[in-house]
Amino acid sequence: MFTTPYGPETVELEDSEQRRQWQAFLLSGLPDMISSLHLCHALRALAGTPLLERLREGPRRSAEDLLEGLDPAIGTGFLRYLAGRGILETRGGEFFLTRSGEFATTDVSLARLGVYLGAYGPVTSRIADLLTGRSVYGTDVVRDGAQLGEHCATLFTIFHTPTVAEAMRGRGVRRLLDIGCGGGQLVVDACRLDPSLRGIGLDIDAGAIEVARDLARRHGVADRVDFVVADAFSPRDWPEACLDADGLCVMSALHEHFRGGEDAVVTLLDEIATLFPEQKILLVGEPEIRYDGRENDDDFFLIHVLTGQGLPRQRSSWLPVFEKSAFRCRRLFTRPGAGPRMCFYDLVPK
Ligand SMILES: C[S@@+](CC[C@H](N)C(=O)[O-])C[C@H]1O[C@@H](n2cnc3c(N)ncnc32)[C@H](O)[C@@H]1O
Repeated sequence: MFTTPYGPETVELEDSEQRRQWQAFLLSGLPDMISSLHLCHALRALAGTPLLERLREGPRRSAEDLLEGLDPAIGTGFLRYLAGRGILETRGGEFFLTRSGEFATTDVSLARLGVYLGAYGPVTSRIADLLTGRSVYGTDVVRDGAQLGEHCATLFTIFHTPTVAEAMRGRGVRRLLDIGCGGGQLVVDACRLDPSLRGIGLDIDAGAIEVARDLARRHGVADRVDFVVADAFSPRDWPEACLDADGLCVMSALHEHFRGGEDAVVTLLDEIATLFPEQKILLVGEPEIRYDGRENDDDFFLIHVLTGQGLPRQRSSWLPVFEKSAFRCRRLFTRPGAGPRMCFYDLVPK
């Protein structure tokens, strides 16, 4: 207890048990985790409002200018929070993105965040329900297919489109079918690169198909591209329009069929080989994660476990599956250190 001439006395309490409990929390790492959690939501809010576009236009903008049309009280505090977290810098009442703020809000960063929070947030927030069986993935708990489509499409065009173009080069494909097309970027990009190509994408998620149709319209290829809602794993039920394809792709979707066991994947490949006797290529792209905690691999692993997509596997366990099927793997494409780790298998009928 001590007294000061300036005001009421201060009584400093000492309780070792309370200190021990608080220190345990501080040392647990949780304070940083909570901050990261909030910052992730804040970055998505930046991108989900006009704020990010305004900040990108730069060079420096006043709070009033940045917050036009937004809640001024929340907005003022939000900008201050972002400055405190190192995303914004402020000088003379004006705000601008720091370098780290720029990096955290690139299209790639926001797409990765969008996949984990937007598309799979509804799943990761329900782990206890899934674990106890109170809820089942696919019925009570579902990912957001439209968000998955939208964010995968951003990543696709940057990282995968050049690989697909390389694999398809010289194969003479005239009509391309993308199985599990999500937001449709593969088909749209391929048709933009080759004005004589026609394309069709199929996906089971109606929300993703809406995103894909909109993408085709925005890129002016809607007259050469169709998108249909269909089950990738039931090829005999695919709409007629799919069946005249002479080039096929399945990107980050085939692994989901391991839910039905390895033989189910082999049977599906065999059915595809029978239905498309004229095909020039079946390009399968699959994530190839490592269990080393790098580049969100653990997060990706968790999502696969929760959604029963068949555990992610390395190429050494994909190749024997292809060997058992009616296909032969001609080439493998990888792209070390550039984008989500993927392996692309260029398959042709045996
Ligand atoms: C990770 S996303 C990949 C999307 C896109 N191919 C890409 O690479 O950006 C997987 C996609 O497969 C689709 N999918 C999963 N199971 C499917 C099924 N049985 N039939 C059709 N599409 C399916 C999902 O709806 C989702 O759009």
